[in-house]
Amino acid sequence: MAGPTHVTTEGWSSRWAFILAAIGAAVGLGNVWRFPTLAGENGGGAFVLFYIGCVVLIGLPLILSEIIIGRAGRSDAVGSVRNVAEQSGVSRGWTTFGWMEIISAFLILSFYSVVAGWVIYYAGVMGGDFFGNLFSGAPFAGALQGEEAEAIQGRMTSLFGNIPLLLAMHTVFMGVTYAIVARGVHDGIEKAALYLMPAFFVLLIAITIYGAFVGNFGQAVAFMFTPDFSKLDAPAMNAALGQALFSMSLGSAALITYGAYVSKDTKLPPTAAMIAVADTGVAIIAGLMIFPIVFAVGLDPAAGPTLVFQSLPVAFQQMPGGSLIGFLFFVLIFFAALTSSISLLEGPVSWGINELGWSRFKSATIFSLAIFIVGIACLLSLNVWSDVRLLPFWSIFAESSIFDVIDGFTGKVMLPVAAFLTAIFIGWRADKKLVAAETGLEGGLFALWRFLVAWLAPIGVAVILVFGLFPGLLA
Ligand code: PHE
Repeated sequence: MAGPTHVTTEGWSSRWAFILAAIGAAVGLGNVWRFPTLAGENGGGAFVLFYIGCVVLIGLPLILSEIIIGRAGRSDAVGSVRNVAEQSGVSRGWTTFGWMEIISAFLILSFYSVVAGWVIYYAGVMGGDFFGNLFSGAPFAGALQGEEAEAIQGRMTSLFGNIPLLLAMHTVFMGVTYAIVARGVHDGIEKAALYLMPAFFVLLIAITIYGAFVGNFGQAVAFMFTPDFSKLDAPAMNAALGQALFSMSLGSAALITYGAYVSKDTKLPPTAAMIAVADTGVAIIAGLMIFPIVFAVGLDPAAGPTLVFQSLPVAFQQMPGGSLIGFLFFVLIFFAALTSSISLLEGPVSWGINELGWSRFKSATIFSLAIFIVGIACLLSLNVWSDVRLLPFWSIFAESSIFDVIDGFTGKVMLPVAAFLTAIFIGWRADKKLVAAETGLEGGLFALWRFLVAWLAPIGVAVILVFGLFPGLLA
């Protein structure tokens, strides 16, 4: 039996460094922007319940599976899968899903950075407004006083029409992500998580408490927890599953790659549970932060992707201290986005380092530039390329722009397929002793985890995937 090859030389300095970095990878735009948006569009309660089911039954077992692959394989997503396959005496063909994960990470980061760019823009607008108020002696004024509601909403349309501005923000965000990843696991990724994650949690709690006092908390709770199962159709289920995978950073190289840096004496199951709980907790708290504010000023919770960017600033105008809260709100999203984008970039970068023998500097530079360029295509599709269709022959993507195709195809197709293959690989093909030793689980708990990975996760993912992609089958 050959030992692992192309192994990484880097590692986390402690168990907590890993936990913070992994929670940082998980908590991102997915929690603060996409989850409330999807819950709003899909009727609230029933979606949230189904989402939690996906987290517990599919997400959590897979988090552990991916970290195991990384720690046992000690390489990038492709190299780790290959090493585990070789140690288990099964085909190297399993590296297919390692490849898919790296490609997904690449594609996701290209549009993620564009959205994070909007966040920077709004943080700038709100920050400018707040400091203006501060110097004119009204630090607790509502945001953007004197601007009409239509004008505030129109800011997003103007932003989408402003290519140089979009490009500048995209450049800033990719630049910061690059600067951190280029410094390495210890000096870059881990340090960023160490500062940004605590700051994120403080802001999250503070703004949620603010919203509970100033906003309509009761209506938000009712909206998020009263299930209306008539709204839970197959596409909504597919969206919930895709969102759960995306939000926990599954199927996109991040957890395998981060797992490779974990020391052998770290207990993995409690760590995996912490990631799942933190990620889901933040998604729900983010809903409880945003919806009270949305309802307080009578806005539409189903506004879609523009909810956070177009609706909330209007709400911040009418709320006491709105300019300060608005500013902190976008800073919070920025911190969350950054710790996630780092993990998205690290997947491809570690592949360049381990498989191609590139230096970290070279790999980070090449991948950042390549992703930056694909991101420009996403960015232009908000604008001059809005009519370009990449998959006109596929009904669910026929009307989608480049941005929406990359977002939808990774989330609805690539992540579920990678999750399915991961489950089959760990549940059926990888050496059982090796897997058991890596989990450190025994007896009934191991049996339960194995049942979820080998049976429930693949069947659940496959069913949801097929009916979600081909809703006609149910008709
Ligand atoms: N989980 C991140 C979020 O919710 C996005 C992400 C996906 C990060 C895949 C890494 C890998 O925003």
